[in-house]
Amino acid sequence: MGSETIVSSGLIGGGLLPDDDTVLGEGFRPQITVFMCIYCAYMAADTAGALRIKYPADIKLVKLPCTGKVDVRYMLEAFEQGADGVCVIGCPIGNCHHVHGNERGLARVKYTKRLLDEVGLGGERLEMYFVSGGMGMTFANAIKEMTARLRELGPNPM
Ligand code: FES
Repeated sequence: MGSETIVSSGLIGGGLLPDDDTVLGEGFRPQITVFMCIYCAYMAADTAGALRIKYPADIKLVKLPCTGKVDVRYMLEAFEQGADGVCVIGCPIGNCHHVHGNERGLARVKYTKRLLDEVGLGGERLEMYFVSGGMGMTFANAIKEMTARLRELGPNPM
């Protein structure tokens, strides 16, 4: 897909602390594919690692030059390959390094959410978040929020 899958356990920068017992407790552990831009989003993940902020480790990170590069097909393929949920994380609106890329990415996320609703998978399994580079806690909270939501929804039925 022209992007690079970098890790499956979230080890970036100072390193994720995959303390799943503390973060998640017992039960279903959703698999989340995270499409992230290499600027603010990757830096935020790096900040989270450097600050040793704990968040669920069951994520597959896919680096993109910009969230404007995320394609509807990429998101659907992530679900086809078994992801329980998909996140797209990019720079804040107005701060995209490719000017309007994150707005284009958001439009594709909204479109894909409608497709997921139509096929019965549920658009709530897909979400977009915006972070700046220093927002390690916000990055971690996005992963935690998505994980909590997916635990409510249950496994990908595909
Ligand atoms: Fe980060 Fe465009 S460069 S979303």
